[in-house]
Order: sequence, then structure tokens, then C-alpha cells
Amino acid sequence: MERTFLMVKPDGVQRGLVGRIITRLEDKGLKLVAAKPVQVTEEQAKKHYAEHEGKAFYDNLVRFITSGPVFAMVWEGDEIVTLSRIVIGKTNVTEAQPGTIRGDYAAHTPSNLIHGSDSVESAEREIANFFAPHEILSYKKSTDSWI
Ligand code: TYD
Ligand code: MG
Repeated sequence: MERTFLMVKPDGVQRGLVGRIITRLEDKGLKLVAAKPVQVTEEQAKKHYAEHEGKAFYDNLVRFITSGPVFAMVWEGDEIVTLSRIVIGKTNVTEAQPGTIRGDYAAHTPSNLIHGSDSVESAEREIANFFAPHEILSYKKSTDSWI
């Protein structure tokens, strides 16, 4: 079963949007299998954003993601990486469409409210950076299958 790592960033926690963001993902029919508030350490942040090391926005990104608590989550389901990124919206807030989380709530980059893994491989690495295996539940949801 495909899994992805989603994280409400410090701006989303400060603005009190955790509940509304989870609702958006639940409304889409996606399944939440792990969740917890986390104060991200610098080491964890550097691991999480390793692919961006050396880019102009990297230092700012690490500073931002460690600036206050985040809400880390694992979601599970068919095509969950792609589906969750559709609900999240485009990275650049000037391109994020209305109806998406970023399109409706975010006005600045990098404070674009939520992180979502960009591939199954990234998801596995990112999940391992935030969750121990025993923290991730496995359960059936009535919407998993209609027949
Ligand atoms: P990226 O992985 O490209 O986007 P996404 O979060 O949609 O997977 O970039 C990680 C974060 O870095 C992004 O959410 C916001 C920030 N960022 C900038 O601040 N400036 C930029 O030019 C880019 C590409 C990203
Ligand atoms: Mg990314």
C-alpha cells in the first residue's frame, strides 16, 4: 500500500489551520494512519530537505521549518503521493489554484502551509525521518473498497 509523508508547516500550526487541512484531505477520501505535533530539529530538517542543499532558498527553508512546531502525518492509499499533492496545490503560491490548500490559504513561499512527498521513494525516506514503524497504524476504512 502506498504511503506519503505530509506535514503542516510552522505557519499552518501558528495560524490554527491543522484541523482545516486534515479536513480537506479527509474530504477527498484519503486515509490518515499516523499523526503527531513535532518540534523539528536542525538535523531532522537538513535530512528532510537534503535534495535542496546548496540552493539559494535552502538556509531560509531550514530556519523556517525549525522555527516552531509542525504537525507531521502519514497518509495511505492508492496513488496517495499524487492525490495528496493535488489537494495541496502548486509550490509557488502565485500558481496554486483555488480549491487547493495552498491556493486557498497561502500567500507566501516558502510559508506555503504544507509539505507533501514528491515520490514513493521520498515518502519512505521522509516517513523514516519522523516516525517509528510502530507509530503507523494499519486499518480498514469503509471507503477503501465499495465491494
Ligand atoms: P519543493 O520541494 O520544490 O516544493 P514542494 O514543497 O511543493 O515539494 O521545495 C520545498 C520548499 O522550498 C517549498 O515548499 C517552498 C520552498 N521553496 C522556496 O522557498 N523557493 C523556491 O524557489 C522553491 C522551489 C521552493
Ligand atoms: Mg518537495
